[in-house]
Amino acid sequence: MLQGKALSLEQLRERTSEKWREYPADVLPLFVAETDFPLAPAVTRALERAVRTGDTGYVASRTPLAEAFADFALRRYGWHADPARMRSTADVSMGIVELLRRVTAPGDRVIVTPPVYPPFFDLVEEAGAVVERVPLRDAGHGWELDLDRIRTALENGARAVLLCNPHNPTGTVHTAASLAQLADLAAAHAAAVISDEIHAPLAQPDAGFIPFLAVSDAAREIGYAVVSASKAFNLAGLKCALMVTAADEPARLLRRLPIEVEWRTGQFGMLAAVAAFSRESDSWLDGLLTTLDENRRLLADLLTEQLPAARFRIPDAGYLAWIDLTALGWGDNPSKRILREARVALHFGPAFGAEGAGHVRLNFGTSPEIITEAIARIAALGDA
Ligand SMILES: Cc1ncc(COP(=O)(O)O)c(C=O)c1O
Repeated sequence: MLQGKALSLEQLRERTSEKWREYPADVLPLFVAETDFPLAPAVTRALERAVRTGDTGYVASRTPLAEAFADFALRRYGWHADPARMRSTADVSMGIVELLRRVTAPGDRVIVTPPVYPPFFDLVEEAGAVVERVPLRDAGHGWELDLDRIRTALENGARAVLLCNPHNPTGTVHTAASLAQLADLAAAHAAAVISDEIHAPLAQPDAGFIPFLAVSDAAREIGYAVVSASKAFNLAGLKCALMVTAADEPARLLRRLPIEVEWRTGQFGMLAAVAAFSRESDSWLDGLLTTLDENRRLLADLLTEQLPAARFRIPDAGYLAWIDLTALGWGDNPSKRILREARVALHFGPAFGAEGAGHVRLNFGTSPEIITEAIARIAALGDA
């Protein structure tokens, strides 16, 4: 089994997921956050066993999932997480909504930090709360949380922060110092922090990723993390995520969630996640990180050579590239022209918030050949 090498375009076109069905076959799809790699062998074995034995019923009340994640967190992040303080649900989005519903009252304001994963705006609303935008700050060398403006928003009554760590779309791994300050600010205002850590397994080893709940006692007292194997191991369709807490009060809130929230966990998702988080999958994940490291550098080189007006910072984590094409003069939403004329599907920058004007998000969780072809097609458009 090739470790970390993407499938060919011909193999990929046999897939029927969103990435491969949204656009016609002449379009290279680099939009939605699915990857083009074969499954980790341990995941394949777990799913094959389930199919062979018809193990397709409801997910059990007691599963090895929380233990598997706690082991993974210790091996990969050096974090001692307590399996007794976790509960599963169908996906990260659902975990966020269920938690927001409990830590806010209808109409409360929730801080989100655009440019950010577009459904965050909808998830806050789905929970009955209201979005308070505090954009990331461009600090020159990278993006960071704007802690001054977050403090002001909390002083003015915001009740929760929806954190993205690592951040989608910029791939920023927030520093331990900024997360600790965020925790202190939230604790001082009795606000909650919900940390979406879906991209965490894809933080590059030198990026200094730290789970929010590992940062400080203050973080543990007011914090909730929502985690999943789904981005790193491409399991989004199988529906499984974990809500994680690390102190008594948040754990109590988690226990009070209706049992139905847990019942929505997918059985295949749980089985696949246990295999993904197991020690057996560590070398596969290391291989993937190496491939993504090569891909992010390849993309940077291609942009420098062929689209020098593009502004791109190599992300610390994940397989998403946030590219500023403003200087090309292709308008607020350059993805439109790129789709129409270059036949490459990228995610629309403005969907990530007003800060995304002139930007595109490109998924480089694929082969070097597809990345190279995509940039060549876009560069061939020339200037506006
Ligand atoms: C930051 C972030 N959160 C949540 C999700 C969606 O996760 P799920 O499918 O588990 O709801 C994504 C998907 O790309 C994401 O990037």
